[in-house]
Amino acid sequence: MGDTNRTFARRLWLGALTAGAVMLTSGAFAQNASPDDVAAGFRIFRQKGNCQTCHGWAGDGVKMDTQMPDGANLRETDMDRDSLVTTIKCGRPDTGMPAFDKLAYSDGRCYGMKKADLDKSGMTMTDPPATLTDREINLVADFLYAKIIGKGPMDKAKCIDLFGSEVPTCKQL
Ligand code: HEC
Repeated sequence: MGDTNRTFARRLWLGALTAGAVMLTSGAFAQNASPDDVAAGFRIFRQKGNCQTCHGWAGDGVKMDTQMPDGANLRETDMDRDSLVTTIKCGRPDTGMPAFDKLAYSDGRCYGMKKADLDKSGMTMTDPPATLTDREINLVADFLYAKIIGKGPMDKAKCIDLFGSEVPTCKQL
């Protein structure tokens, strides 16, 4: 068990180095997030990606479905964009965070591992609600950095800003 975790930690770290090489590409999206991109990212967060089922509609880790794993509090994460995008693409083996890249663990793009490596180490992946394209994952990242990450706890004003009007969810705050 300890060995498995250590091996995984090392691979994660190596993966982070590899991912660093593509940072400039993914970072390029960050500067240009338009309100339309942010809105599209919010839709993917709620619908296709269904991130809210585990992370909560406010991204604060208060999950919508009690049967689901406890998602991290994304409001408090300090991940840079590159690691965030990698986490969404590759998920995190053995934690309940699914991989949203259709080709994750097929060709070594995720932490240098393939499905057989996961199986060998006895690591399991939770099935994603859907797979997302690179573009969709970057839109979710645009949304998260614009409205969730580092924005403090959810409150009524932030809720209204998020939904664009005082929807019933905001009235409860
Ligand atoms: C089936 C439940 C589930 C779904 C669906 C899910 N997540 Fe997660 N997510 C988790 C869990 C559990 C963790 C904590 C992993 C850990 O323990 O390291 C996590 C961790 C993360 C992290 C790492 C946060 C940190 O600070 O370490 C990010 C970023 C993230 N999720 C983003 C997303 C996004 C974006 C979506 C939708 C596209 C999504 N997740 C969908 C369960 C889920």
